[in-house]
Amino acid sequence: MDHRVIAPAPGSPAFQCKLRKSPSPSPAPWKCRVLAASSSERQFFQRKRPIYVPSRIDDPSYVRIFDTTLRDGEQSPGATLTSKEKLDIARQLAKLGVDIIEAGFPIASPDDLLAVKGIALDVGNRVDDDGYVPVICGLSRCNKADIAAAWEAVSHALRPRIHTFIATSEIHMKHKLRKSPDEVVQIATDMVGYAKSLGCQDIEFSPEDAGRSDPEFLYRILAEVIKAGATTLNIPDTVGYTLPSEFGRLIAMIKENTPGSQSVVISTHCQNDLGLATANTLAGAYAGARQLEVTINGIGERAGNASLEEVVMAIRCRGDEQLNGLHTGIKPKHIAVTSRMVSDYTGMTVQPHKAIVGANAFAHESGIHQDGMLKFKGTYEIMCPEDIGLVRADEAGIVLGKHSGRHALKTRLSQLGYELESKQLDDVFKRFKAVADKKKSLSDVDLEALLSDEVFQPEVVWALLDLQVVCGTLGLSTATVKLSGPDNIQRVGTSIGTGPVDAAYKAVDSIVQIPVTLLEYSMNAVTEGIDAIANTRVVIRAENSTPVTHAQSTEPVQRSFSGSGASEDVTVSSVRAYVSALNKVIGFSKAVPSSESSVSATQATTVATK
Ligand code: KIV
Repeated sequence: MDHRVIAPAPGSPAFQCKLRKSPSPSPAPWKCRVLAASSSERQFFQRKRPIYVPSRIDDPSYVRIFDTTLRDGEQSPGATLTSKEKLDIARQLAKLGVDIIEAGFPIASPDDLLAVKGIALDVGNRVDDDGYVPVICGLSRCNKADIAAAWEAVSHALRPRIHTFIATSEIHMKHKLRKSPDEVVQIATDMVGYAKSLGCQDIEFSPEDAGRSDPEFLYRILAEVIKAGATTLNIPDTVGYTLPSEFGRLIAMIKENTPGSQSVVISTHCQNDLGLATANTLAGAYAGARQLEVTINGIGERAGNASLEEVVMAIRCRGDEQLNGLHTGIKPKHIAVTSRMVSDYTGMTVQPHKAIVGANAFAHESGIHQDGMLKFKGTYEIMCPEDIGLVRADEAGIVLGKHSGRHALKTRLSQLGYELESKQLDDVFKRFKAVADKKKSLSDVDLEALLSDEVFQPEVVWALLDLQVVCGTLGLSTATVKLSGPDNIQRVGTSIGTGPVDAAYKAVDSIVQIPVTLLEYSMNAVTEGIDAIANTRVVIRAENSTPVTHAQSTEPVQRSFSGSGASEDVTVSSVRAYVSALNKVIGFSKAVPSSESSVSATQATTVATK
């Protein structure tokens, strides 16, 4: 990271060492304007979440965390979420303590609007004992229909916010919008004014592609939207183009040169195309941004966004020493479970070496590292797994096997951060017993695989009851499946195929009868050993579904849906994943009025009972 941007706190040993190494000891001009709290101020604020006021934050070191997993994150291919899944994730984000939840893009489809409204009504009205309730935000382009839809959805929350955006880079204005800079300023001002006229007091404005926009034009448009009523100015590096030094400078220059910027909150939104989203976000925070837009696991368009867990843990680990005491209101112990939930629901697997939440993030493989860890954990760990809600496997003292009871399972899951409702625990326990009968002991990863398969699933419309396959080199692969349907009637389908999975999927299709295309199929063993549980992930596209409006592209897009399944039997695991993805398609279209959707749940049922 560029030392001029993320500079150590003055007085710290690291700062002195950096100064000696610096080729130009005088700080960049914009650096002087960084708003930092003195140490006595920091003590005074005692790291509490300040009272929420849209346009200002009374603790200068407090950074708002704006989570856009449900909006930008859901724009990842295959990451489509049903309304129920969105609500579950929003509840979990509130547990985590995010300040603002961007719950969706309400104009995208009637289902999106309903999902955002549901979150506003539920999560947006649950005030905790400290007075915390997240702001619920809806995205809109700069036009009246989008803004009205966003307001219709979020206005039910105690703290509703409209986030409206229009592109400001020359390349976007010329080729995408086909509008002059003057027209763009006019539209932005009018639409922020329109949002205000609806009664919205909390308005965020984003100049899309700010990272490639002319800074002088940014100062102008931002000054105008402040006058029109914007309370947060979000600066997106939409295509992940800038370097940390550049992005930090942009934030500082905007603060310095935009008339009225002192009376609003400046925000960052960094995409990860060059792998710099987290670094850029931190550079923005150091330069004075006090809202950071992030997603869980860093999911999002193309290469994704700055990841919440990386940004939050970087601030937590280094904020005092390197970032002038910045702090957030996030409770990191909920990070691991939130990451798991988002990964399971979106089908976006977390790579093993992903910082903070990857499977290897706290694994010490080499002998030298293990030796160091045994002597003193600080040798190779800059944070503890416990900080993010993980339990060290070797310290748990519990091995679960076929003799373990429901209570032991509940205790272990709760130690891992999962608090299940009674029915969910029953379901997981049933699966646990079935697997434990075949497998000597179940590790935490086995338990989490079962949990994903039973709990983090779309609502069950179709359920796999039985499966039988015949396959091999002699003769045709044949599969027979028995499913129970939405009416609780059991149906049996049989098919041949090129292999057992193909035959089984065709047998399922013969019952469910929703035309889909299989886009992706992958399987992995969750642990070592021949008796390991196999995890399958599929992504399908529903061929007859109505395309939805995409916030940042001009063309409507066809949604794709993921599904996952786990079993010690690879074909069962594959079929569970496929049925789960089909349930997601049905669950998603259920919330859409039938005139909007050609894959409605009712249709699927009717066809299947023929
Ligand atoms: O990347 C981007 O520019 C966005 C805006 C809508 C904030 O997602």
